[in-house]
Amino acid sequence: MNRYLITSAIPYINGIKHLGNLVGSQLPADLFARYQRARGAEVMFICATDEHGTPAELAATKAGKPVAEYCADMWQVQKDLSDRFRLSFDHFGRSSSKRNHALTQHLAGKLADNGLIEEVVEKQVYSKADGRFLPDRYIEGTCPNCGYENARGDQCEECTKQLDPTDLINPRSAVSGSTDLEVRETRHLYLRQSALRDKLNAWIDSKNDWPVLTTSIAKKWLNDGDGLRDRGITRDLDWGVPVRRGDQDWPGFESKVFYVWFDAPIEYIAATAEWADSNGLSENDWERWWRTEKGAENVRYVQFMGKDNVPFHTLSFPATIMGSGEDWKLVDYIKSFNYLNYDGGQFSTSQGRGVFMDQALDILPSDYWRWWLLSHAPENSDSEFTWENFQQSVNKDLADVLGNFASRVTKFCRAKFGEVVPEGGTYGTDEERLIADLTTRIRAYEAHMDAIDIRKAAGELRAIWVAGNEYLQSAAPWAVFKEDPAKAAAIIRLSLNLIHLYAILSAPFIPDASATLLAAMGSEKEEWPAHVRPALETLAPGQTFTVPDVLFAKISDEDRESWQSRFSGIRD
Ligand code: MF3
Ligand code: ZN
Repeated sequence: MNRYLITSAIPYINGIKHLGNLVGSQLPADLFARYQRARGAEVMFICATDEHGTPAELAATKAGKPVAEYCADMWQVQKDLSDRFRLSFDHFGRSSSKRNHALTQHLAGKLADNGLIEEVVEKQVYSKADGRFLPDRYIEGTCPNCGYENARGDQCEECTKQLDPTDLINPRSAVSGSTDLEVRETRHLYLRQSALRDKLNAWIDSKNDWPVLTTSIAKKWLNDGDGLRDRGITRDLDWGVPVRRGDQDWPGFESKVFYVWFDAPIEYIAATAEWADSNGLSENDWERWWRTEKGAENVRYVQFMGKDNVPFHTLSFPATIMGSGEDWKLVDYIKSFNYLNYDGGQFSTSQGRGVFMDQALDILPSDYWRWWLLSHAPENSDSEFTWENFQQSVNKDLADVLGNFASRVTKFCRAKFGEVVPEGGTYGTDEERLIADLTTRIRAYEAHMDAIDIRKAAGELRAIWVAGNEYLQSAAPWAVFKEDPAKAAAIIRLSLNLIHLYAILSAPFIPDASATLLAAMGSEKEEWPAHVRPALETLAPGQTFTVPDVLFAKISDEDRESWQSRFSGIRD
């Protein structure tokens, strides 16, 4: 059996995510997980919150809560929202878990044993006004690479360059805004990633099936010379994984923690252990996903993330894994995404611009959003959310095509034959043509889903829905019924089965609507259609069904306008 380990980049704990975050990792990962499960694969789908580092501390300060309490509260908020978006994680963990502490300390110990950790006295920016060092996002300024003025000390969001706080031009404290800064010496652990350059290079070169976006970013960092510079993996902060060498103290580092980008990807592994713990399972049950000597060599590991995350997943995390010398599973395929923009600008968490996950669900159920976001996923370039486009997609694809098909077929049947699959009649050329057409299209849909070509898959699914509508239009059972009721029965029987087939094929994109359709068709069979003809005989004559409620309501112009103005400003 095929086995897939699927991870989504773990969202920062600092607040509710916007739709741009959602479509950049968690939602496409869910699409793929649902699809692979539907195809019969064994899937382990993992996500978590990224709770350490300056984003968490800054947000907790702003919320006026102790950071541990803030993280616990925000984890629950994010967990509830991911449930409501139907993100089907096997486990939604926390990077602050005991498991992650232990595993992070363990891996740091292994790296040290293998001579890949160096103690360095380095210069860090110290804020006299704040009475503390300002690592990473505690400092902001102008990016030396592209000139973006709000670059943060760890990375420029604009050009994705990884930075050191001392690289910034015109730096200021993110805590107080103070520019009264000085450079002081402090001792830190460095990961000698440069020692792994050849290994990393060869590994990335072997990945010739990766998306261009992923490899181009990875290569840029590898060849840049700077990209593999040895980097500090510890920080002068209180909140985080305490620096320890396995289960030993690390002399001189008693009051320091590991850098958030060191422990966060390790949480992919730790969260799988958390999954086992919370289900009363054994070490072996999670290790078979992660340790090649315990079965993980037969696992295909796929990661999903936004483009700004690519350097960490192609260089630093693999360096940790390779450098440990242990048999941890390396990623097989990295699907990365460009940015989704919002109505002429950027989505922004810090500026509260755009639509956030909770707000989206306040106005419409998750399937509406899932469909729009996935069918417009920013795969080959940045894409843009506009209310006009959203209205159009929902009204056309979901209401006029899919919803309308289900409603016309079931209502017509109820009127003429009752709420039961009618018997009699035979197929003619229209039906044979439809079966041939669907066969080709479903195989194409599968190929796009296997390749994680999301827009293409959505386009093919839409075409599959359209094919049913066109068939119904041309077969015209309402006209045929008067002359030849048996033929009308055959058309409707096939159409009811098409609804069932659509429910199965569409479930990875719109799970709730699919469940509604399956329930209405009174069918428990959820088998993926290996062949179209038998799949269209799933609902046998005599089987009862119900007419589903309106599957998708159309978005009116008034709704669109009111949402547009409601979300034009900035969230409180
Ligand atoms: N929290 C990071 C972000 O939102 C992603 C972390 S991914 C992991 O950009 F690999 F570190 F886990
Ligand atoms: Zn930049």
